[in-house]
Amino acid sequence: MKIGIIGCGYVFDHYMTTLPRHPGLIIAGVTDLDQTRAETVSRFYGLRHYATTDEMLADPDIAIIANFTSIEAHHQVSRAALLAGKHVYSEKPLTMTMDQARDLTGLAAERGLRLSCAPSNALSATAQTLWKIVADGAIGTPRMVYAEFDDNPVYKLRPEDWRSRSGAPWPYLHEYEMGCTWEHAGYHLGWLCAIFGPVRSVTSFSKVTLPDKTDQPLHPADTPDYASASLDFHSGVVARLTFSIAGPTDHRMRIIGDKGVAAADTYRDYDCPVTLEPFHPLTLKARNMRSVRTNTLLQKPFGVGGRRVPLAPPVHPGHADARAFDGPAWSPKTWAKRLRRAQFGQQDKCAGLVELVAAIREDRPHYPSPDFTLHVTELTFAIQAAGPDGASQQMQTGFAALPLPASTRDGAPDYAALARPPLLARLMGAIRRG
Ligand SMILES: NC(=O)c1ccc[n+]([C@@H]2O[C@H](COP(=O)([O-])OP(=O)(O)OC[C@H]3O[C@@H](n4cnc5c(N)ncnc54)[C@H](O)[C@@H]3O)[C@@H](O)[C@H]2O)c1
Repeated sequence: MKIGIIGCGYVFDHYMTTLPRHPGLIIAGVTDLDQTRAETVSRFYGLRHYATTDEMLADPDIAIIANFTSIEAHHQVSRAALLAGKHVYSEKPLTMTMDQARDLTGLAAERGLRLSCAPSNALSATAQTLWKIVADGAIGTPRMVYAEFDDNPVYKLRPEDWRSRSGAPWPYLHEYEMGCTWEHAGYHLGWLCAIFGPVRSVTSFSKVTLPDKTDQPLHPADTPDYASASLDFHSGVVARLTFSIAGPTDHRMRIIGDKGVAAADTYRDYDCPVTLEPFHPLTLKARNMRSVRTNTLLQKPFGVGGRRVPLAPPVHPGHADARAFDGPAWSPKTWAKRLRRAQFGQQDKCAGLVELVAAIREDRPHYPSPDFTLHVTELTFAIQAAGPDGASQQMQTGFAALPLPASTRDGAPDYAALARPPLLARLMGAIRRG
C-alpha cells in the first residue's frame, strides 16, 4: 500500500526522521508546488519526484495521500485526493473552517475512503500509560486535568534562521498568523479526548499578548498568541488547557483523580516518563513545607512528585530500536544523535500513518476516526476564536468513546498495584509494627 506525500516543507523532515523504523510504510514519492523543494527532498532521501499533484493522484499504485501542505491548502489537496479515490492522512488542523472539515468527512464517507489526521501522540507510550493508569483506577476517579502548552518565547530564538534537516525554513511568520493555539491544540486534545471521550462544552479566552513579536507585517495581525480553555467532558472530567508562545517551555500533562495524580513532562517525547503520585496525608502535608518544595532530595521520601512507573507499549512500536538507525557506534555523529534524543526526546509522527495502514489492512476503524477529528477541529476553532471577552460554546460534534487499545490493556502493568504510599510512611509503618 504505497503513500504519496504532497508538501515537502518543514514538517516533512519530522516524518522522515522515524520513517526507517516502520518498514511497512512505503513512500511512492513526493510532490510540492515548490518544485525546487520537492527536488531537494527527493535527492536528500532518494525518493521519486512527481512533477505535479495531478501526476501523483493519477498514479494507480498510490493508495494513500499524506497531505503535509500549508493549512490553507489542506482542504483543496485532501479533496482532490479523495476525488481521485485515495485515502487521506492530513497534517493538523484538518482544514481552515468547520464547513470544509464536514465537506471532507462527508466526501470520504460517501466514497468509502479513509480520512485520518495528525497528531498521533495519543498512540505514544506516554499517552497510553496515562490512559491505562486512569482505566486501572490507580488515581481513583479522574476529576480534573491540567494541560500546558507554553512553547517558549520563540521570537527570542531567531526563528527566521531555523532550518529542517533537509533545509526547509521554519515558516515562523505563517505560524504567527495561524496562531500557536491552532497549531498546537490538537496535541493535547487528541490524548484528552481519547482517554475521556467527547466534550460537552468549552469556555475559552484568547488574546494577542506579543504584538511586537516580529517587525514583519502579519496577515492578520491580531491572531491570538495566548489562549486558555476549560473543557467540560460528558464523562464528568474537567480539563484546563493553556497555549502560548510567551511562557518558557512547559508541556506538562497532569491528570488529577480523587486518589492521586498521574503526570508526564511532555507530549512531545513519545517515551516521556510518567509519574504516579497517590494522595497520602504525609505527601499532601509535606507539599506545604518550604524545605520540601525547594529540595528535590527531600521530596522523594515524602512521595512528592510520585514515582516513575514502567511505560505501556506504544500502540505501533517501530520495527526496530531507534539505536539501530543511528549509524556506527564509534561515530561522533551517532553520539550527537543519541545525546539529542536523550535531551529532547523524539516524536514518532509516522505512528498515525502506521495506524492508518494497519487499520486498512485489518479492515477495522482507524484512530483518529473522522468523527473524532471533526470534534477536535471544532474544539480547536472554539478555543482560538474566543477572543478577549471570552466565550462558551456547546459542542455540535461528538464521537463514540474509545476503548483502551488491546496492546495497552494486555501489555502494560496493573498501575493500581504500583500506587504505593511514600517511603517515609512505609518506614514509619514498619517501625510501628515491629
Ligand atoms: N512546522 C512545524 O514545526 C510543524 C509541526 C507539526 C505539524 N506541522 C503542520 O504541518 C503542515 C505543514 O507545515 P510546515 O511547517 O511543513 O509548512 P511549510 O510552509 O514549511 O511547508 C508547506 C509546504 O507545502 C507546500 N504547498 C502549499 N500548498 C500546496 C499545494 N496546494 N500543493 C502542493 N504543495 C503545497 C509548500 O510549497 C511548502 O513546501 C501544517 O499543517 C502544519 O500545521 C508543522
